[in-house]
Amino acid sequence: MDAIQAILGRRSIRKFTGEAIPEKDVKLFLEAAMAAPSACNQQPWHYIVAKNKETFSKIMEAQPYTKMLEKASIAGIVCADPALQTCPGYWAQDCSAATENLLLAVHALGYGATWCGLYPGDDVVWKIRGIFDMPKEVYPLCVVAVGVPDEEKPPANRYKQERVHEEKW
Ligand SMILES: Cc1cc2nc3c(=O)[nH]c(=O)nc-3n(C[C@H](O)[C@H](O)[C@H](O)COP(=O)(O)O)c2cc1C
Repeated sequence: MDAIQAILGRRSIRKFTGEAIPEKDVKLFLEAAMAAPSACNQQPWHYIVAKNKETFSKIMEAQPYTKMLEKASIAGIVCADPALQTCPGYWAQDCSAATENLLLAVHALGYGATWCGLYPGDDVVWKIRGIFDMPKEVYPLCVVAVGVPDEEKPPANRYKQERVHEEKW
């Protein structure tokens, strides 16, 4: 799959078969995430890869819009350690770029995923820190539910010419 096909064809997949994903593919997802651009190349991220169903239940309780985890293979938590920043203030942008890269790699390899937001919800951030014994300084940005797809979605086509400004607003 070429890059444009992957970008235009990616959709949130919320129905999974429950099948396992080979470790070599999981490593590729993480390589793609860590290939993302970041401010001053600071790479302020950490990733938690969870496969345990009890952990999935705890996440679903903490963040109710993660029910697709029920049959997902992996819950990937994209985290930021602000102490790793050399250009302060950019971690959310850096980790969002990493998350999109991860989603695209998942899609390009034939799997499905949904980005589920955690930060900036204060309550949910504390709950997720508790589930994973995370240091209190570290922020979980999102949880990405990844699995073998059990649904197909067409490309969304959201292009809006009126949102494009030539030279000036
Ligand atoms: C910051 C962010 C938070 C999101 N949180 C959730 C979520 O909690 N649960 C969910 O099912 N989808 C979540 N989504 C996925 C969006 O609903 C989805 O991307 C959007 O509806 C567009 O659909 P598409 O991904 O299929 O193109 C989130 C997406 C982003 C970028």
